[in-house]
Amino acid sequence: MSETPILKVEDIRVSFPVQGGMVNALDGVSLEVFPGEIVAVVGESGCGKTTLARAVLGLQPIVDGTITLNGDVVRGTTKDNGRRVGMVWQDPYASLNPRWTIGRSILEPATLVGEKRNAIEVMKEVGLDERFVDRYPKQLSGGQRQRVAIGRALVLQPPLVICDEPTSALDLSIRAQILNLLKDIRRERQCAFLYISHDLTTVRFLADRIAVMYLGKIVEMGTTEELFSHPRHPYTKALLDSAPNLDKLMHLPDPLPGEIPDPKEKILGCRFASRCRNVQEVCRVESPALRIEEGRTFYCHNPF
Ligand SMILES: Nc1ncnc2c1ncn2[C@@H]1O[C@H](COP(=O)(O)OP(=O)(O)OP(=O)(O)O)[C@@H](O)[C@H]1O
Ligand SMILES: [Mg+2]
Repeated sequence: MSETPILKVEDIRVSFPVQGGMVNALDGVSLEVFPGEIVAVVGESGCGKTTLARAVLGLQPIVDGTITLNGDVVRGTTKDNGRRVGMVWQDPYASLNPRWTIGRSILEPATLVGEKRNAIEVMKEVGLDERFVDRYPKQLSGGQRQRVAIGRALVLQPPLVICDEPTSALDLSIRAQILNLLKDIRRERQCAFLYISHDLTTVRFLADRIAVMYLGKIVEMGTTEELFSHPRHPYTKALLDSAPNLDKLMHLPDPLPGEIPDPKEKILGCRFASRCRNVQEVCRVESPALRIEEGRTFYCHNPF
């Protein structure tokens, strides 16, 4: 692994004004992605995953911290953003212009910066029949549209592609195909991925490293193998325990007990304390410091 990260997120904060106060959507998030690496960000709905993606793209202003993409500090979006980073959104129905042909959609990031690219070549790479080049999104299936969105993200050959839940709107049978496609692209192009998902099992076969996010903070980060074999943070452990497997296929995972703190409130102590099975007195009053152990980082007073 190269020493210079493609993406470096340093202690960023994002808050939104809402009725009754401010929501701290990102509350000191730090993360690095190295060339050719697939890093997954996993966490429950509302923990800040999409906000993180938007901040990296320059779409979301940050109130504190720094984001560096390929050595450049991100300050808003630029016309040639597509060279720095590609983006695949969750909903392939909403992310493509219905009035544009597939070929035009794929080429658009290149057109914007005046570069000539070959749509058919990109389509081949993402497994789309070249006859689709003159068709419109409504003539394609969800999985095919997501391939178009991936092609579009790749057209300017950015060193990093962000995917925000790219399979969650798709049928189960199609999901594995898209995951395999992303793996193939990484192998062929050596580009890095920041892959956002709400579930740990999906990312197990894709990611090199996983960041587990809870209420605006990455509470644990480590290699996929280490994280699955020995989760340290009780939240990671709870996510793993609640993930569906063959034994549990017939019933939905139990939700974690306890209340999630109001994101508008200033959190005293550990943000996971109210739902944690390892909770101690100190957890409710003192915010845990970052611990670094053998390439693993986590914030916890009483880890597994
Ligand atoms: N534009 C906004 N205005 C106000 N609050 C917002 C806005 N965007 C996000 N939030 C809040 O910020 C927090 C993080 O939201 P975000 O969409 O990043 O979560 P997420 O992890 O992507 O969730 P999901 O898994 O449901 O997509 C949530 O509390 C959300 O309500
Ligand atoms: Mg989201």
